[in-house]
Amino acid sequence: MAPMLMRRLSPDESPADPAEAYAYPPRPDRPWVRANMIASVDGAATLEGRSGGLGGAADRSLFSLLRGLADAIIVGAGTVRAEGYGPPRPGPEWGSLRAGRSATPALVIVSRTLDLDFDAPVFTAAAPDAATVVLTAQAADPNRLAAARERAEVIVAGAERVDFPAAFARLAGQGRTRLLCEGGPRVLAQVAAAGALDELCLTLSPVLGGGGAPRVLNGAPLPVPSELGLAHVLQAPDDEGFLFLRYVRKR
Ligand SMILES: NC(=O)c1ccc[n+]([C@@H]2O[C@H](COP(=O)([O-])OP(=O)(O)OC[C@H]3O[C@@H](n4cnc5c(N)ncnc54)[C@H](OP(=O)(O)O)[C@@H]3O)[C@@H](O)[C@H]2O)c1
Repeated sequence: MAPMLMRRLSPDESPADPAEAYAYPPRPDRPWVRANMIASVDGAATLEGRSGGLGGAADRSLFSLLRGLADAIIVGAGTVRAEGYGPPRPGPEWGSLRAGRSATPALVIVSRTLDLDFDAPVFTAAAPDAATVVLTAQAADPNRLAAARERAEVIVAGAERVDFPAAFARLAGQGRTRLLCEGGPRVLAQVAAAGALDELCLTLSPVLGGGGAPRVLNGAPLPVPSELGLAHVLQAPDDEGFLFLRYVRKR
């Protein structure tokens, strides 16, 4: 499959190679946390309880490419349950992106209850060099924790709930500094509230959802609203209704 080529609308109008446009900044020692989310034009993060109805072909291609660029994918257990997540699989657009790295990024599932099916492929069929990671807190049930340890790598960070900056520092200590958070909205709200979100890649989907669907951040108002700078706007020639926005936190 030929690499996808997009059109850049901002900061200038020119062809854009997404692998270059979304390259992580070089930060070998510290984590860089990117979120990739999709919302309808009226701000809904789900349609009928899932995000799938919002997407399109170019969005799916970008979703896969961003996975290929990452060392680890962080996702909430709510999304794993709602979307039936499996282990990451190499995408056709990855090319040589992962030269010198594990075949796929590790999936890091955030859960306090550990109400997860440890016999599901997301745990049993992960690539051997990218075992699925369970990210939980000290308050987790010891029996569920023991079950998790049998099928996954476990990171415990935080007392009652996962402390995201501490967890990201632990991942960075393992050499996983290019982090991709795929939500869901409740996890992402906490990551942003902790001041740990460096970048938001937002796909704007050309639909109106209406109703009371959550936004891409679903939590308490941020104590200090994060100011973001617009890094680029891309458009896929064959999927022009979607806009691919990349915002980076202003330091
Ligand atoms: N629009 C988009 O781009 C997008 C992206 C992703 C998902 N979604 C949609 O969003 C929905 C799911 O999102 P969601 O916000 O309900 O759930 P979520 O953020 O994916 O997951 C929430 C769960 O994560 C765990 N968790 C969250 N914070 C934690 C903490 N600090 N410590 C320990 N565990 C923690 C808990 O799991 P336990 O209950 O296991 O303890 C919690 O129930 C689905 O409909 C999905 O389709 C949309």
